[in-house]
Parts: sequence; C-alpha cells; structure tokens
Amino acid sequence: MTQQLTGAATASGTRTRWWRDAVIYQVYVRSFADSDGDGIGDLRGIEERLPYLAELGADAVWLTPFYASPQADGGYDVADYRVVDPLFGTLADAESLLGAAHALGLRVIVDVVPNHTSDRHVWFRDALAGGPARERYHFRPGTGADGGLPPNDWQSVFGGPAWTRVPDGSWYLHLFAPEQPDLNWENQEVRAEFDAILRFWLELGGGGVDGFRIDVAHGMVKAAGLPDIGTPEQVRMIGSQTLPFFDQDGVHEIHRGWRELLDSYAGERIGVAEAWAPSAERLALYVRPDELHQAFNFQFLRCPWDAPAMRTVVDESLAATASVGAPTTWVLSNHDVVRHVTRYGGGTTGLRRARAAALLMLALPGSAYLYQGEELGLPEVTDLPDELREDPSFFRSSGQEGLRDGCRVPIPWAEDGPSYGFGPGAGWLPQPDGWGECSVRAQTGNPGSTLELYREALALRRRLAGLGDGPMHWLDAPAGVLAFARPGFVCTVNTLSAAVELPAPGRPLLSTSAPDISGESVRIPGDSCTWWAI
Ligand code: GLC
Repeated sequence: MTQQLTGAATASGTRTRWWRDAVIYQVYVRSFADSDGDGIGDLRGIEERLPYLAELGADAVWLTPFYASPQADGGYDVADYRVVDPLFGTLADAESLLGAAHALGLRVIVDVVPNHTSDRHVWFRDALAGGPARERYHFRPGTGADGGLPPNDWQSVFGGPAWTRVPDGSWYLHLFAPEQPDLNWENQEVRAEFDAILRFWLELGGGGVDGFRIDVAHGMVKAAGLPDIGTPEQVRMIGSQTLPFFDQDGVHEIHRGWRELLDSYAGERIGVAEAWAPSAERLALYVRPDELHQAFNFQFLRCPWDAPAMRTVVDESLAATASVGAPTTWVLSNHDVVRHVTRYGGGTTGLRRARAAALLMLALPGSAYLYQGEELGLPEVTDLPDELREDPSFFRSSGQEGLRDGCRVPIPWAEDGPSYGFGPGAGWLPQPDGWGECSVRAQTGNPGSTLELYREALALRRRLAGLGDGPMHWLDAPAGVLAFARPGFVCTVNTLSAAVELPAPGRPLLSTSAPDISGESVRIPGDSCTWWAI
C-alpha cells in the first residue's frame, strides 16, 4: 500500500525520497480527538479526523505513544510495546487507522521508546524479583558507608537523582521518572527485542507503519563504568555538553542496525531521531547515509525571534546536514515545549510572529514538523490548576520547570460543546474560555485565519516544485529582515515590530500580513512573512 503513495517529492525511479521534504503533523494522541467520551483522545478519534489532515496538506502523521502504559509520563513509559492501551483503543483500531491513512495518501510514523521501559514492564517486574531480566537494566550497588547514596552523581532530566533504591538495597538508573527504568543496551536480548518490536509495527495490517520517531535516540548508550559528571553545574547542563549518558558514540551502531532493518522493507520506512546533541555537527551524525533519515532540529525550535540568530541557525543546520547528504528538518513546537505563539511573546504579537515563523519554516529546504493546534494559532495554556497537571517533570521540579501540560490541552474543533468538539464530554485537561474561537470550524473558510494560512502555505509548497528539497541563498536585506531565494521564489521575513521598506522582490503569493507595494518598492509590515513569485 505505502509503495503507491505519492509524496510531494515523488521523483521518477523507485525511491521517492518522500521524507526529504515531507510536512509531518504531530498528533499528541490523548489530546487530539476523543471518540468515546472518556475525556482522552484515541485512535478512532484520529481516524475520524484523518480527512482534515489530508486536506490540510500534511504528507505524514506522527502519533505519540499509544501503547499499554500506566501513563506515568504520558505513555512514554511503555509496559507492553505490542499492545494498544485500552485508553486509546485496540490493535484492530491501529490497523484500521493505518489503512485509512494510507488510502488518503498519508504516511504514519509512530513513537518507539527504547531508552527505558515502564516499571510495570514484565522485564522490570522480573528484575525487581531478582530474575535474569535484571541484566537488561542498570542495577548498581550504592555508595557511602551503607550503600545509601546513589551510585553516581547523575540527575534525572525531570529533576532529582537519576537513581532509585529498591528493597534489596541496590539502585537502578532512570534518566527520566523513577517509573521509567533505563534499559541496558549492552545486553543483546534488549537489542533483539527492539528489532522484533520494530518488525511487529512495520508488518501490522493496514500496510504497517511508515517509520518511527525514536524517543531519546541519543541516550540509549551510557559511558562505560557510568562515571560521575563532576560539578553540580555540569550535572544540569543537559543539551550543551556531552554527558556520559547522552550522545555517546555507541548509539550510532544501534541506529545503523535499525536503518538496515528499515531498508529491508519496501516503501521507504523512516527513522527520526529525537536527539539532543551539543552541536549541529554532532546532530548530523545521526543522519549519515547509513543511519536515520531525520533528526529534529531543536536549535531552530529554541532560536529567539531575531533575524541574525535565525539566519545563523539556518546556515548551521543546512551546512551540518549537507555535510552528510541529509535533509534538514524544521520544527517550532512539540508536546514538550511551550507553544511558539507564547514563546514569541504571546497575545497578538506572539501570534503574528508565530504565523510568520511558520511561513519561514515552510519556505526553507527540508522537512517540517507541525505540532497539533499550531495551525490554529493556539497559545500555551498557562493557568492550569496544579491539581490537574500530569506532567511528571512538574512534580519533580517544585513547579519551577517542566510545565509541559500547557501545550497538551485538547484541541478545539468546534465553537461550542463540552470540549469544543474534542469529544462528547469534557477533556482530560480543561480548555480555556473562548477556545472555540480558535477552533477548526471557526477558522475554516475565514481567509484571515491561521488555519487557512497553513492550508494555503502547504498547498503552495506542493505546487511550487522547487520548494522542499532544493537549494536556497540569502539576499541582501535591511537589518532585522531575512530574505532568501529558492527556485522561482523569494521569502521575506520582517522580525522587527516596525514596517520596513525594500525593493519589491516579485509578485506576492502569500503573506501573514499584506505587504504595501508601491511601484518598485514594498513596505513589509512588522512581524510578518511574505512569499513572492519571481
Ligand atoms: C522524550 C519525549 C518526552 C518524554 C521523554 C521521556 O523527550 O518527547 O515527552 O517525557 O522523552 O520518554
């Protein structure tokens, strides 16, 4: 089935390389669409809304984990990798969803969570009981006189020590929550099991999955001997240095193996790394020709709304991925970060910038990831009551960090109803008053809406054959403005709040705020982006 799909980049020949410029829409399953009224989004809800995603112009959908899980970390704590959690549906629902997506020309990528299991996984239960599965995790004696101190100084990404003591006195490693014990990837049974899990999903009915988003792809291998990091400052510097548990060279061998496995299936199934690496060059190693296809570009996501900073990130990203022959990916939001409307200042300013950033992202060469609701211009929900929060990082960090629930609020489909069309009843997190004004129904057919902007941008991106995976070069532009050319096309972005005048680059195709053209010159409104035909 997948072999018949025609992506935006369909070329002659057998390999379409569809992923090189694909627009991939992230569905956070529990917050997308609830078909059965339990307040939690589910697979049937997604299937019902697939036509919306196809019509939006997405090439593929990425589904966050829907596997059997106690939900200690929104499903990133998997108790059984081959079972759909009843919260989200059944395996038959997954097959049906895959078939329906493929019939609409949409590919489907699913999450795989190989760095850790749930503490309810049968292996970890066996490990706690002193069984042989203990070798599949990292158990160590403690330090200090009675072994009462953790084996080393590693901190959990969610705060607090990365070790928890068990009744027999030993400690186990968890880079995330205690309910997420890290697997030992030196153990061959772990490797074999994950090969089998990948095959299971690739071979499922409905055409199987088209690829995997690999959770914590940089964390599976730990430095030999699990050495201390050093000072408390270094211990918390995740993402800005090579830590003994992140971005170790050994992870690449695993990804090479997975690439071979993916390539043994027809239809160009892909692997996407969620990898935090200290530089664009280190990140590019994950997408060498014999490794994964894509890696999320978090440098772009983290970049402030500032022209020189954005230009630097774009240049560095393109140079690093070009050095290994891979496409760059672009992403502005996901289920782990504050939504970009809010990051860019919130309110109308934040929304103007977010719309402009989206058009910028979609004009750059490479593949783009959209996070559900960004096409509606949704802001972060910042006033959720603490007692309703579920994010484990909130509870482990005194409420100072890790506010990841605010981007996970169920999205609005309709102007009214108990959850604005998310489902027949209320959603698992409350939606703000007025959420219905942002809904799909309210924005559909409204030419100024963010939804119609995305629809038009994605349609144009498909029509303009040179967009996506082609070359780009920068054009001269006033301070605060980015201007670059693609084949037959120019994109201008004004990151200043004031309008800027420049020579009109061509005929406007699409803009987030209409440019004012007079004769040869054009005034570009503040915080806006325009696409031009040349
Ligand atoms: C990834 C996921 C995040 C999860 C973590 C642990 O970063 O995106 O949501 O909490 O891995 O699995």
